[in-house]
Amino acid sequence: MEATVVIVGAGSAGLATAACLTTHSIPYVLLERDDCIGSLWRKRSYDRVKLHITKQYCQLPHAPHPPETPTFMPKKHFIEYLEGYADRFGIRPLLKREVESAWFLVVASGENDAAVVPEMEGLEGFNGDVVHSSRYRSGSDYKGKSVLVVGSGNSGMEIAYDLSCSGAVPSIVVRSPANIVSKEIWALGNFLLGFLPISLVDDVVLFLCYLKYGNTSKYGIARPTKGPFHLLANSYPILDCGTFDKIKSGEIQVLPSIARIEGNKVRFANGKTHHFDAIIFATGYRSAVKKWLKGADFLIGDDGMAKQKWPNHWKGVNGLYCAGLGRRGIYGGGVDAINIANDINSILHPQGTNDTLYNNLHA
Ligand SMILES: Cc1cc2nc3c(=O)[nH]c(=O)nc-3n(C[C@H](O)[C@H](O)[C@H](O)COP(=O)(O)OP(=O)(O)OC[C@H]3O[C@@H](n4cnc5c(N)ncnc54)[C@H](O)[C@@H]3O)c2cc1C
Ligand SMILES: *[C@@H]1O[C@H](CO)[C@@H](O)[C@H](O)[C@H]1NC(C)=O
Repeated sequence: MEATVVIVGAGSAGLATAACLTTHSIPYVLLERDDCIGSLWRKRSYDRVKLHITKQYCQLPHAPHPPETPTFMPKKHFIEYLEGYADRFGIRPLLKREVESAWFLVVASGENDAAVVPEMEGLEGFNGDVVHSSRYRSGSDYKGKSVLVVGSGNSGMEIAYDLSCSGAVPSIVVRSPANIVSKEIWALGNFLLGFLPISLVDDVVLFLCYLKYGNTSKYGIARPTKGPFHLLANSYPILDCGTFDKIKSGEIQVLPSIARIEGNKVRFANGKTHHFDAIIFATGYRSAVKKWLKGADFLIGDDGMAKQKWPNHWKGVNGLYCAGLGRRGIYGGGVDAINIANDINSILHPQGTNDTLYNNLHA
């Protein structure tokens, strides 16, 4: 088989790249390891999950969400969106097909490819269920059980909430300060950002959060010294899905860092021990591209992410590109896709016109 471009990975970034190449009439092959598109959403995320980012940042080139789409899209809705997108651009990924010739290669294998589980003394001796959040589906499997959630990002917080709603008894390890923000306050902050400077928006957001939540340190979750918009480039805030009320009421227990695991007991940094039936690691993911892509040191860093600085991180040498590895989420993968398709187009057709339309959103 012969194709001009090979794209590896049929998540949102790979699909966006395929669509943008199609608008330039450039033939491509899209290779997907799994048996479906958007496998992260279909197979590696829990049932309750909603997109953590407002919908205008979760859309792909040439396909803005209509007004009736909820601000925070449920996963089912987003999978339907990806499917509609693939249909519209006639994208049909291939599974286990051999490509014998290619001029350009686009890596779109994702920042969330491999599960990260920290090393922990005594973990191998723990008798109960131990799973990573990518294998957690719903709390119904844990009814009546005492479950420790490790990791207090958005996934950990939402999984603790889900467990509690399903009749499990969850605890969550919170090691570092976090900005808990309600979805409404966050959406308002995003809106205000259009008119006010960041520092003022952070002040407003933190004031509203104080009115809503009080002093969160009292419940084991200190706030960072800086506001959520200020910190956005480094960390995304915790968008509260109801977890905080359950922490306040004691339905979810907050615990400090783990010192070690002793059988089915876990010892914490404060010296106390608690018994658990199961541990869920919501400790994140990493890119696994370094495992299979060799000789790409110019483009990809040791962490498997784009090495060069945004916005020039997507282009390597000898026809190698990456989409969706620049730490800018679904939106960032879409911007990469446009840039990559334009670049390939300008090499193939120096006289051709480039694509600039991106739903009026520019990074
Ligand atoms: C719980 C959760 C919530 C999130 N919420 C948001 C959000 O609200 N907004 C947002 O912008 N981002 C969110 N993210 C980040 C999100 O993962 C990315 O923004 C988005 O999925 C990236 O798409 P992608 O195409 O780059 O990667 P992926 O969706 O991970 O797709 C990569 C694809 O490549 C395939 N693949 C990998 N290696 C190979 C290989 N060697 N050969 C063939 N195929 C391969 C994989 O099977 C996969 O299908 C969230 C992540 C998680 C885990
Ligand atoms: C919140 O409480 C902590 C300790 O309980 C205290 O150090 C901090 O100053 C309080 N913050 C506010 C804004 O009241």
